[in-house]
Parts: sequence; C-alpha cells; structure tokens
Amino acid sequence: MAMTADGKIATANRAVSTFGSGRDRDHLLEMRATADAVMAGARTVDLNRVNLGPGPAKYRRLRLKHGLAESNLRIIASRSGTVNPNAEVFKRRFSPILILTTRRASQRSLKKLRAVADKVSICGENEINFRRTLGWLRQAWGVKRLLCEGGGELNAALFRAGLVDEVHLTVCPKIFGGREAPTIADGVGAADLANATQLKLKSAKRHGNELFLVYRVTKAMQAGGRRSPTSNLCPPTSGLMLSFHPPREEPEQIRQPVQVNDNFWIVKLIGLLQCAHAAFRAAANGARHVERRRVHAGAGSRPTFVSDVLLFNFVDQLF
Ligand SMILES: NC(=O)c1ccc[n+]([C@@H]2O[C@H](COP(=O)([O-])OP(=O)(O)OC[C@H]3O[C@@H](n4cnc5c(N)ncnc54)[C@H](OP(=O)(O)O)[C@@H]3O)[C@@H](O)[C@H]2O)c1
Repeated sequence: MAMTADGKIATANRAVSTFGSGRDRDHLLEMRATADAVMAGARTVDLNRVNLGPGPAKYRRLRLKHGLAESNLRIIASRSGTVNPNAEVFKRRFSPILILTTRRASQRSLKKLRAVADKVSICGENEINFRRTLGWLRQAWGVKRLLCEGGGELNAALFRAGLVDEVHLTVCPKIFGGREAPTIADGVGAADLANATQLKLKSAKRHGNELFLVYRVTKAMQAGGRRSPTSNLCPPTSGLMLSFHPPREEPEQIRQPVQVNDNFWIVKLIGLLQCAHAAFRAAANGARHVERRRVHAGAGSRPTFVSDVLLFNFVDQLF
C-alpha cells in the first residue's frame, strides 16, 4: 500500500489515491508477479481505473518464471454486492474475476454482477468469512498466495480475521490530513494495545524520497497467539501491498463453537433443505458456469455441476 507520511491512502474526498513514484508502481507489479490472486475492496475498484492484472509482458514473464499462471486471478470483495458493473476492472477479460459477497446482496445486484464476473460467491450471511473463503480459494482455484491491494476497510477485515502475513508499505513524502481520509486499516480497529496486530520490520529500502517497508505479522489481532512464520512461494520483495497466505487448514481454536440445543437439528434440517433447493436452481445454469471457467486457462477449475459455494454451504450446514 502506498501511504502518505501521515498514514493516509487517499484524500478525504477519495479524489486522489495514486501518489507514488514510478518505482512504487513497478513494485506493485513485482508484487502481483508473486501472487496467484490479487484482491481489492469494492470502493477501490469503483473509484479507480484498476484492472488488478499482471501488467506488461515483462511481468507476465516474471510470473511464469515464478511458476505461476501468466495472469493472476482477480478478486473483489463486496458485502452488499454494490460494485459498479461498469468499473474498469470488468472491461478486459484476460483472467477470471471472482466477486465475494454475502447474503446481504440483493438478487438484482447479483444478477448484474454475474453478467460481468466469472463467479459470484456468497461467502457469509452479513460478513465474508474470509478464513473459510481462503480455504475454498485454495482448494477450488489453487490460490496459495493472495495479495490484497486495499482499501482500508477490506485490509482491516483481513487484519481482524488474523490472516495477514506481511504488510508492504511505501511511505510517500506527502501529508494529506483529514479525519475522513482512509488509512491502511480502517473499520473497527483494535480496542487496546494487547489486541493490536504486532509487526516486525523485515526490510526497509529507500528510493529517492520514498521508503519501501516490509513488515511481517508476528501476532495477529484476534488469534492472540504468536504466529508461526509462513513459507513464501517466491523470494520476499519489498513492495507496497498487503499479502497473505490462505491457511492450509482451519486451526481448531478459530472454529466457531456449535451450540446444541432443542432447535439445533431443526435449524440444520431447514438449512440442508434450503441448500438442496439452491442446488436445484444452480443445476439449471451450472453448465454455463462450468464452461466459462474452462475458457480461462490456469484457473485451476474443476468440472463441477453444483457451484462451489453451494458445496461449501452444505458442509457449513453439516458441521
Ligand atoms: N494508496 C493506495 O495504495 C490505495 C490502495 C487501495 C485503495 N486506495 C484508496 O482507498 C479508498 C478506498 O478505501 P475504502 O476503505 O474506502 O474502501 P475498500 O476497502 O476498497 O472497499 C470498501 C468496500 O469493500 C467491501 N468490504 C470491505 N470489507 C469487507 C468485508 N469484511 N466483507 C465484505 N466486503 C467488504 C464493502 O463493499 P460494499 O459496500 O459493496 O458492501 C465496502 O464498502 C479509495 O479512495 C482508493 O482509491 C488507495
């Protein structure tokens, strides 16, 4: 993430959010060249002419050298499905676009987004369950390393979920000020020092008046315990983004405890019936969905008739 010396990633009116040097932009592309997928929040995609892609041929070659697909998967997070379907990101279809959303999204929004994205996944009731979603991304789309490019609200959700491994920051020689200006992690935030995400400086480089910092997360916001270092797919580079690895498996301590009471099995049964109903509807347009995914090489697609999110929901209902 590029930030001003006062920690802002855009001006308060959101009009300016690109303020780094050419070196900073190269770093962005270098970082993308180490990731299977690049993710951004709905407002970042709406407000910027970003395509979240790998960039020029030089970086696509770098990706291949790293053993990655020529183009990264592109992911957009939107709780309420209000991403603008006319945004720049949807204009060129060189790699699959996934939209992660929740049940808050209206059928109308879902329909619009399905017309422009390769997949729209419901990943939670009111909030995206990022831990589970990353497990699914790894399993269904082969995502081992994911780069989140902000904005501040999405970053905050990932910090809160304890999923961030590294923070790549470019400190730019500017002050924006403004209490409404977004920072690298907005949202609810930590209530006290004990709950703050703890970082360790891994590298610091100076290019002109900019500082390129890489921090490793040593203690996550919610998990509370010390994190064990994760292995990187590629050698570490300094950069300007936040990167993290989907967990290989869900740690026991993060699982939600299941309350078994009189209504438990009735609720589960209703959930399963709802899933079966949704699976029937998905079967109607499943073939079209599978065909779309096959068109995109290197996406790790697997032939499936019922969409992954429905399978996910079945599992969710069972456990
Ligand atoms: N300087 C930099 O490096 C940099 C990088 C990126 C962005 N920016 C700037 O930062 C600003 C945008 O930042 P922002 O914080 O306002 O917006 P953001 O994080 O890009 O997007 C916020 C939206 O993302 C969705 N979202 C966030 N957290 C979510 C969660 N936990 N689950 C599901 N969906 C979630 C919601 O979409 P819905 O409302 O649709 O539900 C939310 O309104 C822009 O001005 C952008 O240009 C700067």
